[in-house]
Amino acid sequence: MEIVLSGIRSTGKLHLGNYYGALLNFVQMQHEHKCFFFIADYHSLTTHPTPTDLHGSVKQVLAEYLACGLDPEIATLYVQSDLPQVPELYLLLNMNAYVGELERCTSFKEKIRKHPDNINAGLLTYPTLMAADILIHKATMVPVGKDQEQHLEMTRTFANRFNRLYKVDYFPEPVAYNFGKELVKIPGLDGSGKMGKSEGNAIYLYDDPKTIRSKVMKAVTDSGPTQPNQEKSEPVKNLFTLMRVVSDPETYSYFEEQYSSCHIRYGDMKKQLAEDIIRITTPIRERIEEILANDAYLSQVAHHGAEKARESASKTINEVRQIIGFRNF
Ligand code: TYM
Repeated sequence: MEIVLSGIRSTGKLHLGNYYGALLNFVQMQHEHKCFFFIADYHSLTTHPTPTDLHGSVKQVLAEYLACGLDPEIATLYVQSDLPQVPELYLLLNMNAYVGELERCTSFKEKIRKHPDNINAGLLTYPTLMAADILIHKATMVPVGKDQEQHLEMTRTFANRFNRLYKVDYFPEPVAYNFGKELVKIPGLDGSGKMGKSEGNAIYLYDDPKTIRSKVMKAVTDSGPTQPNQEKSEPVKNLFTLMRVVSDPETYSYFEEQYSSCHIRYGDMKKQLAEDIIRITTPIRERIEEILANDAYLSQVAHHGAEKARESASKTINEVRQIIGFRNF
């Protein structure tokens, strides 16, 4: 049995990228492995949310996990800041994480390019906090999207470095995991890059049908193919990628064929895509609403999860302290 762990930042509602990149894989794995799933609220502090927003987002994301099918009786479902062992391991790992390697991390470089006025140390050490999340439970499989591949590579580096430094074989090497073998990248609706919370190009699980239709109909396309089997432009490729994920294979093939033979009408394709997304998100949105209205249940889930997660985390941190040489007087 593997130890599986994944998490999502509590920076707002979950979008289709989070769902297909991480959550759905996790939901499918929870019955077969020892699974931990958490809400990364420390990570969300890099963007300085207000206290009300911070708590509101954690509650929303917790309700969304449950609505997507995470079973808190089977998997361990918790909030990152409920485990004091995580920041402790983060501190210890930071002693062996080099500034140069952190500065070379793609996600850090991207953040400083986009937000040059907020280059804080939390952003620089984001990968060590993520490594602490994973190593605190000695997880071996981490269901994530393609954008997290490099963070996983860094986690392996930190784990191996710890083992070498203290001449132990303590931390396992975690691998990024997707059910379909390939890590996925769900594109946004703006014609470039990936779907993301901060990009303004996302469809959220909590969006109502009207919002979804309007977002999809506005998705960027091009003026259409002019010759058979023409190479697709980036925005059109993205639309097809989304369709492959949410629609039936027959629907996907139909529009592929329409494209190849230059008969495609993007308006029709978008209408179909929007309806297929709505079919998937509507039951989830209804469950989110139900769960959000039940504070007592959310609180019970968070307490129960924190207790289970602390048990595993405190075992690891005690062993790590012994390995490093902390001794009680
Ligand atoms: P976050 O909150 O940006 O995203 C959460 C998960 O969703 C995946 N994802 C995507 N997958 C495919 N296509 C997309 N467009 C897309 N957008 C997001 C991400 O790959 C991720 O799996 N650092 C993490 C949170 C985290 C974590 C961890 C994850 C903190 N500690 C430990 C795993 C293990 C993050 O910011 O994800």
